[in-house]
Amino acid sequence: MKTKVEYGFPKGFLWGGATAANQIEGACLEDGKGMSTSDYAAYKDPYATGEVNNFTFNVTSKELEEYRANEEKYKFPKRWGIDFYHRYAEDIALFAEMGFKVFRFSISWVRIFPTGLETEPNEAGFAFYDKVIAELKKYHIEPLITLSHYEMPIVLSEKYNGWQSRELIDCFVRFAAACFKRYKNDVKYWITFNEMNMNLNSLYTGAGSFPDKVDHLEQAAYQASHYQFVASSLAVKAGKEIMPDAKIGCMINRIESYAKTCRPEDQLQALKADQINLFYPEVQARGEYPSYMSRYFKEKNIMLETEPEDFQIIRDYTVDFIAFSYYMTHVTEDRPDANELAGKLDSPIKNPYLKLTEWGWPIDPIGLRITLNKMYDRYKKPLFLVENGLGARDKVEADGSIHDDYRIDYIREHVKQMKEAVTDGVDLMGYTTWGCIDLISCGTSEMTKRYGFIYVDQDDEGNGTLNRSRKDSFYWYKKVIETNGEEL
Ligand code: BG6
Repeated sequence: MKTKVEYGFPKGFLWGGATAANQIEGACLEDGKGMSTSDYAAYKDPYATGEVNNFTFNVTSKELEEYRANEEKYKFPKRWGIDFYHRYAEDIALFAEMGFKVFRFSISWVRIFPTGLETEPNEAGFAFYDKVIAELKKYHIEPLITLSHYEMPIVLSEKYNGWQSRELIDCFVRFAAACFKRYKNDVKYWITFNEMNMNLNSLYTGAGSFPDKVDHLEQAAYQASHYQFVASSLAVKAGKEIMPDAKIGCMINRIESYAKTCRPEDQLQALKADQINLFYPEVQARGEYPSYMSRYFKEKNIMLETEPEDFQIIRDYTVDFIAFSYYMTHVTEDRPDANELAGKLDSPIKNPYLKLTEWGWPIDPIGLRITLNKMYDRYKKPLFLVENGLGARDKVEADGSIHDDYRIDYIREHVKQMKEAVTDGVDLMGYTTWGCIDLISCGTSEMTKRYGFIYVDQDDEGNGTLNRSRKDSFYWYKKVIETNGEEL
């Protein structure tokens, strides 16, 4: 037992920022890149429809046909990103100026295997990541690489309906192993899949499956997850063989569920909602399907196609750490649709004690402390908070300055609670804020929803100079890192 209470963040705490290839790179058709699922997330003007969270991340096979036939009618912002592909050196220099210890980014699957079916990787695709990693090393910034962050070869979606097919396991493991071999001497921290539990929200974004081509959405989400579990474990196996010292993690979108009242029925529902959210690390960190899910599947008539060896693979190759994103908490109550709501981003039940972001996401820093403690108590594995942040509109003043004190307040309050949790004894490896540089929103494909410390001059339609500038939060976060979280 650790008897001494240590206040604050440990030495070597990994401070930094996080991004994903499809939201920053652009250069859609360069150097042999193939088309990915995210290249077909068309922007739908939320101001025209009056729907702030106008999610663009579920694409049906009919929509894909329509987009292909009428490319000029639509805008696909994830194809242009923020041009990180050409400006990575400038961006990394800014991260270094803030003192980043770690930078989370993803490798675009289609840059390495353009259709997903090739047996040899695309050298020109790797050449780009060679440069990014070399640049990070120059500043002693650790790369933290996500292998699959909400994109995959569109060819695999069309041929197999994405992760509905077992065939995808080999395709993914081939991609993962190629990345491990290439970067075995340079990259220690890896995440196999981003927020696998979001398959329940968007089958297309999470699993590359067209929702109109499955009979039962929930069944399809869990089937895809099963194949991803096996693929992730096989990637851990390959990773450990190639780089025995590497640390490979899983990742979920963590949404803690509070009961609406102290009525036992509501409390029970909160427990169930939490079990559904934690099902993913349960499998990937503990190595087995929890029995509560067997009952859930049975009662929902969900039947998964599995092979007997899958469960041994899952048992043998668990992850080293649990990465997660944290943006909000939910409230739940005893109602017929409570289980379905547990897997979703939007909740109709509001928490009267919490303020909302402009996009309606409840802000709950104390919930972060609760969740850190809960997850650590449960898994006793290191945790890594790899996404957290405030999506907000920023105003550029006449002199070019951007006073984003709302973002500073948001992150400050979360860091304070993280510090409390670390003092409670939680083993937290690091903190990478989401969208440390403004990027294209995953959910809505817009630019207006900004998370960055670094402003990027570009609007929702892709107009702008793409010039980078420092917001007030840039200087604030620099201080936080410099003082290892002491000066907030
Ligand atoms: C996470 C994703 O769920 O949320 C990111 O991993 C995403 O890719 C982030 O950008 C914020 O969501 P949004 O929709 O505001 O971009």
